[in-house]
Amino acid sequence: MENKHLYIVTGSTKGLGKALVEELLKWEGATVVGMGRSVSSIEHPNYLHIQVDFSELTQVKSMMNQIFLEGDYQSVCLINNAGWIGEIAHLGNLSAISLEKIMNINVVVPALLMNEFVSRFKDKDQVKRVVVNISSGAAVKSIDGWLGYCGSKAALNRMTEVAQQEAVLEKTGIKYFAVAPGVVDTDMQQEIRNSRATDFSSVDHFVQLKNDNLLLSPQDVAGKILSLIEFPERYLEVIQDVRTMG
Ligand SMILES: NC(=O)c1ccc[n+]([C@@H]2O[C@H](COP(=O)([O-])OP(=O)(O)OC[C@H]3O[C@@H](n4cnc5c(N)ncnc54)[C@H](OP(=O)(O)O)[C@@H]3O)[C@@H](O)[C@H]2O)c1
Repeated sequence: MENKHLYIVTGSTKGLGKALVEELLKWEGATVVGMGRSVSSIEHPNYLHIQVDFSELTQVKSMMNQIFLEGDYQSVCLINNAGWIGEIAHLGNLSAISLEKIMNINVVVPALLMNEFVSRFKDKDQVKRVVVNISSGAAVKSIDGWLGYCGSKAALNRMTEVAQQEAVLEKTGIKYFAVAPGVVDTDMQQEIRNSRATDFSSVDHFVQLKNDNLLLSPQDVAGKILSLIEFPERYLEVIQDVRTMG
């Protein structure tokens, strides 16, 4: 099979990222590059897994040629999906290392990858190019105990808007989205439910959502997110929310 489309998905070892990769691998002509600290359970001839820790920026910077696999593609897509909820605690109890780590994973690495994407593909007018940043409702809502998470996802939203503004000014034709996936049944939600009410006053709400079976499945959410890639022209706004997407 000729590999005509390159999809780069960070945080592909589990949760939403894994569901995105599994769906993309069903698409005709897809080559998928996935990333995470763990080994991947996905075995597919068109899947390349890169083990990398996004809290170590030097590691990420040294891997750009592996991540952006050379090829004569008709479309290239970057999905910045890897994310960390961070240390769930109120101010006064946060460690410097966790603050540095969450900003590297949720903000700096997505920015580095977008920068590399633009430098490599901005002049490739004939190639369909889409960047999807997986954000959160926490980008636009203040939630106690999630200082790093809310701040980092707000930064991701704004970076995505700036990227789109630059694409318009420079007429690169690159399309950008930041999408909130809703409350998805993944390990991140487990981590949230395991926190203490003194660190995070909404913990009971998230426990209740799970008990009431109200979490979205990673597969359903992946399907919606991939429509941004398949039909970017249908979505006018940079900031999207899976729960309100058509
Ligand atoms: N689940 C939700 O309800 C929800 C809601 C709103 C937004 N989101 C966002 O959706 C995205 C996916 O979340 P999820 O729920 O699927 O989370 P998850 O199940 O915890 O998966 C997170 C992914 O990110 C990778 N990752 C975490 N830290 C990393 C690091 N230091 N270096 C490299 N990769 C790292 C993990 O891989 P390794 O562990 O192998 O490193 C894993 O593949 C995130 O951006 C999250 O903020 C999720």
